[in-house]
Formats: sequence, structure tokens, C-alpha cells
Amino acid sequence: MRAPYGDAEKLVFGRMFTEHMFSIKYSEGQGWHDGKIQKYGPFMMDPATAVLHYAQEVFEGLKAYKAADGRILLFRPEQNARRLNRSAAKLCMPELPEEIFLNALQELILLDQDWIPDTPGTSLYIRPTLIATEAFLGVDASKEYLFYIILSPVGAYFKAGFNPVSIYVEDKLVRAAVGGVGDIKTGGNYAASLLGGFRAEQKGFSQVLWLDAREHKYVEEVGAMNVFFVFGEKIVTPMLTGSILPGITRDSVIRLAKEMELEVEERRISIDEVLEGIKTGKLTEMFGSGTAAVISPVGMLHYQDTNYYINNNQVGNITKIFYDKLIDIQYGRVEDKLGWSYELK
Ligand SMILES: Cc1ncc(COP(=O)(O)O)c(C=O)c1O
Repeated sequence: MRAPYGDAEKLVFGRMFTEHMFSIKYSEGQGWHDGKIQKYGPFMMDPATAVLHYAQEVFEGLKAYKAADGRILLFRPEQNARRLNRSAAKLCMPELPEEIFLNALQELILLDQDWIPDTPGTSLYIRPTLIATEAFLGVDASKEYLFYIILSPVGAYFKAGFNPVSIYVEDKLVRAAVGGVGDIKTGGNYAASLLGGFRAEQKGFSQVLWLDAREHKYVEEVGAMNVFFVFGEKIVTPMLTGSILPGITRDSVIRLAKEMELEVEERRISIDEVLEGIKTGKLTEMFGSGTAAVISPVGMLHYQDTNYYINNNQVGNITKIFYDKLIDIQYGRVEDKLGWSYELK
């Protein structure tokens, strides 16, 4: 039988959605109510709806994977439920009980399970979203909300093989500042990153590496990935200062690294230290971590008109080990010793 998403090779990220969606409403005084699964389709909204004006919105991103034996697996979804609630709290939005989040994922994905591609590297992207729905124009927290989940089949991230990317280091525009909302998953952070992304793309780079807002000196993160630097047997990643997203893949890499008895440092790391490490050869590998790519090797940094090549623009051993270990767990190819797999049945 032909898959509902057509040819998995031709899937473009975030353009196609499955047949159903989940939604549940929140009203002050009443709490969460009217949870339901319905056919995927547009919402009717008053033009004054709060989210459209002051961006009271938070979201999540995770994936469902089809194991070779047919099991449907999520990767640490309770972490997404928790991060959604941390994001919500920071924007004065109500918290969603974790069991509503997990049960909704379970029911919706099982219902639309034919939409989960099963060829190598493919998955079903899951987008839980919480928006303010009260219709009014005051800068005030909404009294009504809608939480919904939509699903989108996605093709393999590394279509042309597990190859390093080249990254533009942005030293003027900033994504987020300490004290702001950079550490939560809210749409405004991504809107603020568009111009930098557009300019980098014009120069031929697919990604931007953001530096801190105050001094333009310390490395923060890439558009939708946290970053890691490998110095021989030691890995260094920017500490969670409040302006970068605490990635679930980041946390998983740190935990795997400790298991592998690699030294791990979560600290501030300046772009000068990175470039010096590249020049002296002490910095042996760099990679990004995030739900979309899982692990993305970085082969070159472009900073102030100069290209800096890392590991001769080749994929490093440690980078590859983390990638393999994570995808093996995500696709259920190895025993899940860390309890990270969440089977839907
Ligand atoms: C800004 C940003 N940083 C980091 C990440 C990586 O987070 P995770 O590993 O939870 O996908 C993402 C993607 O979700 C992101 O949007």
C-alpha cells in the first residue's frame, strides 16, 4: 500500500501534516477542558486574539521513530513536557499536566501511525504548541489558551551523507540576552534570528553561530542546535547562562560523554578560545546537537571574513560516536539502558 506521505525521499521539513491533530482549551477558573482529536485543519480566530499581537506562545519539537521491529518510539518526551511548562511559566501561561501532554501524544500518534516513515533517518516530527487565545488588545496575560499538537512526516536530515556544515559566526546581531527569553522555546526568539539567518544564507552559510548579547564574545548556540567543542578527550559546551535553550539532545550528549568517561566542561567559552584551539590543533572537533539533526558535524567557522577549518572539514570520531549512540537509542537498535525510549502502544 502506498504511504499517505508519498515518497519519503521527497519530504520537505514541515510542509506536510498528518490527518489528525489534538487540541485542548484552557480557561481561567475552569482549567483545561474539551480535549479532543479531530481532523487536521485551520482554526477560526478573532483578529484581536492575544497571540497574534504580543506573541504569548510557546512550543516544543520532538520526533517519533519507527524501529525495525515496528515499535513506535519517542525519545525522552517527558523532558519536552517539562520544558514546555518551564517556557509557559516564563510567559505567564498555565502549565499543562504532563499526563495530558504524554497521553495526547500517545493517542494522536497511534491514530496517525501510518504517517511515520520507516526508511533510514526518517521520522515523524511532533509540534506541541501553546497559544494565548483571548481576544483583546491589552498587554496582559490572556485568560484563555489553546494547546495543540500537529504531526509532520520528515525525511532524512543528512540526505547527502553525514557531512560537516559551515557556519557563520554572527558578531553584530544577537539572538537573545540574559534576563530575556532565550532559554525558552517561544516563537519570538526565532523571529529575532531570521535576519541573521538570511544574511548568513546570502553569504553561502546554512547556519549562524550566535555570540552573547553583552560582549559579542562568548559562544551561545546555533539556530536550532546547542554546540560542543572537542579538545582531545575533553568536551566543552557553553553553560546554561539563561540565554540559550537547554537542549534535550545537549543533556543526552553530556550524559553519554560522562558514561564514556570523557571529561565534560559546561562553561563560558569565548570565540577567541575556539579560534585559537583551531589554529593550534587543540580543538579537534566541533558539532551541534538538536532534535532535527541529532548531531551535526561542523567543518568550518567563518568569523570576521576568515574561514577556520576544523579537523580538515572532516567528520571527527567523537562526533560520529555520539551520533551513532543517539540514533541507535532513538530507533531502538540497542538496549535502552538509560530509560530514554518511550514506546507508544
Ligand atoms: C534555539 C535552539 N537551541 C537548541 C535546540 C536543541 O534542543 P533539543 O536538543 O531539545 O532539540 C533547539 C531545538 O529544539 C533550538 O530551537
